[in-house]
Amino acid sequence: MATLIKLDSNENPFGPSPLAVAAMRAALAGCSSYPDDDASALRRKLAELHRVNTEQILVTGGLTEFLGMLARTFLGNGLNAVTSELSFIVYRIATQAANAQLIEAPMRQDRFDLDAIAAAVNENTRIIFLANPNNPTGTLVTADEVGHLLSHVPEHVVVVVDEAYHEFATHFATRRGVKYSRSLDYVREERNVVVLRTFSKVHGLAGLRAGYGIAPAQLMARISRQRASNSSQFAASSFALFFLRSNCFQGGLEIYHPLTIARGEKTTVCKRRSRSSSLFASRTSGHHRSPLKLELTSAQTNCR
Ligand SMILES: Cc1ncc(COP(=O)(O)O)c(C=O)c1O
Repeated sequence: MATLIKLDSNENPFGPSPLAVAAMRAALAGCSSYPDDDASALRRKLAELHRVNTEQILVTGGLTEFLGMLARTFLGNGLNAVTSELSFIVYRIATQAANAQLIEAPMRQDRFDLDAIAAAVNENTRIIFLANPNNPTGTLVTADEVGHLLSHVPEHVVVVVDEAYHEFATHFATRRGVKYSRSLDYVREERNVVVLRTFSKVHGLAGLRAGYGIAPAQLMARISRQRASNSSQFAASSFALFFLRSNCFQGGLEIYHPLTIARGEKTTVCKRRSRSSSLFASRTSGHHRSPLKLELTSAQTNCR
């Protein structure tokens, strides 16, 4: 019988690194204790990696949980969040769950129109959700474009830069000679910016539910009040172990599992794997789709 591989949420078809699996197995032996509710070890490691302070990092049960916390912190009756049309579905779900309105700015030529997003902001706007790259369209906005948007956003608005696919975007933007993101600089400058990263995609750990946000400390203190106790921290401490044992994500690794192919302004996440372990992705350019073959990087092999 054929096996169904579920990849409709851009999961990693290669699964997690065996090092991560080993770290999680080792952590299982300690699961009779309640976890470290602050995910201290992981946050310290992430803070080091991103050159921010530990209190600027919050680990949650995936970004989906973080998005809900953001909505509960900043939105409510009579308030709104702004995003682009055709963006990540959870922005709508989280906003509506907080009894607020989601305003979707129109796209221009199938890309985010950041001027339209800025123009949609009003006195009741509290959040801009910017998926970069976007899911489901796969388009990317450059660091300069985001910088331009930020200079037009009023103080009462928090800009959430959702970089769930950060590793892929960095890789392909570098190849194209484009600066992808300066979002962490904005956090270090204490701007009203929250950067989101996840372990679900490039790390192949979607089923374990862990992601994190990086924000100025004061902003993060407000968001943290929405945190549920003892949620997902068992998984988080396993990741910390993984981080401590491996240097897969620091320096040496350009990209772990290349899932996306960038062509022009479009990227599409791969949907299937060949027998030879090469990766196929669909190219969506104009009206045709053609398979592109991408060999695994040697860096990925090193992490196995
Ligand atoms: C743009 C974007 N943000 C956030 C998420 C949610 O990620 P997580 O698995 O960390 O909840 C996804 C997952 O599909 C996504 O595409």
